[in-house]
Amino acid sequence: MKIINMAQLNKTQILQAAQMLTDSIPIGWPTLQDALAEINELLKPENTLLAAVENDIVIGWGGILPMYNGNVFELHPLVVRSDRRRQGVGKAIITALENEARKQGGLTIYAGADDERGNGETSLANVDLFDDLPGKIKNFSPGTHQSGFYLKMGYKIIGVMPDANGIGKPDIY
Ligand SMILES: CC(C)(COP(=O)(O)OP(=O)(O)OC[C@H]1O[C@@H](n2cnc3c(N)ncnc32)[C@H](O)[C@@H]1OP(=O)(O)O)[C@@H](O)C(=O)NCCC(=O)NCCS
Repeated sequence: MKIINMAQLNKTQILQAAQMLTDSIPIGWPTLQDALAEINELLKPENTLLAAVENDIVIGWGGILPMYNGNVFELHPLVVRSDRRRQGVGKAIITALENEARKQGGLTIYAGADDERGNGETSLANVDLFDDLPGKIKNFSPGTHQSGFYLKMGYKIIGVMPDANGIGKPDIY
């Protein structure tokens, strides 16, 4: 597996990246067209998009976008093909993105991880986030949600946006 800049990908590989995005996060990008539009939007010189490529096939990708004059980078998005998850691909991409953010002078990296599927997956879904939020963050449980991955990677919850995706469906920072 190689990690390469997505600006170097050919059309077929960009399609593979887009297909993975709509397959994995259909709430965000319901169609292949939506996912392609997102990638084209993100492919700007100020952003850095990196793809994990194996035998010329894209198996995962992610991006960092500068915020706050480059002191902070937003990690957006991050996706690994469903049949290649839990094999270290996400970790390899996020590590490469962190190194890139560091190289570009970034001090902080953050992601918004929406808890929006079904009836909520984490302990921050369907609760009053205006009541003892520090306590709720301290006792956080990710359940099946991707925030379990970020916690494994050393990320800490710094806050939430209540009802970001409808009542009881927060975005977790
Ligand atoms: C989240 C995602 C990118 C993780 O990628 P991945 O390639 O499966 O992750 P890795 O295999 O590199 O996992 C690294 C570690 O995190 C753990 N991990 C991965 N997913 C996890 C989860 N959902 N919950 C808890 N731990 C998880 C792995 O077991 C591994 O632990 P280890 O280092 O102790 O072995 C992938 O599941 C994905 O694409 N999900 C759908 C899209 C998505 O939700 N993206 C994030 C939007 S905010």
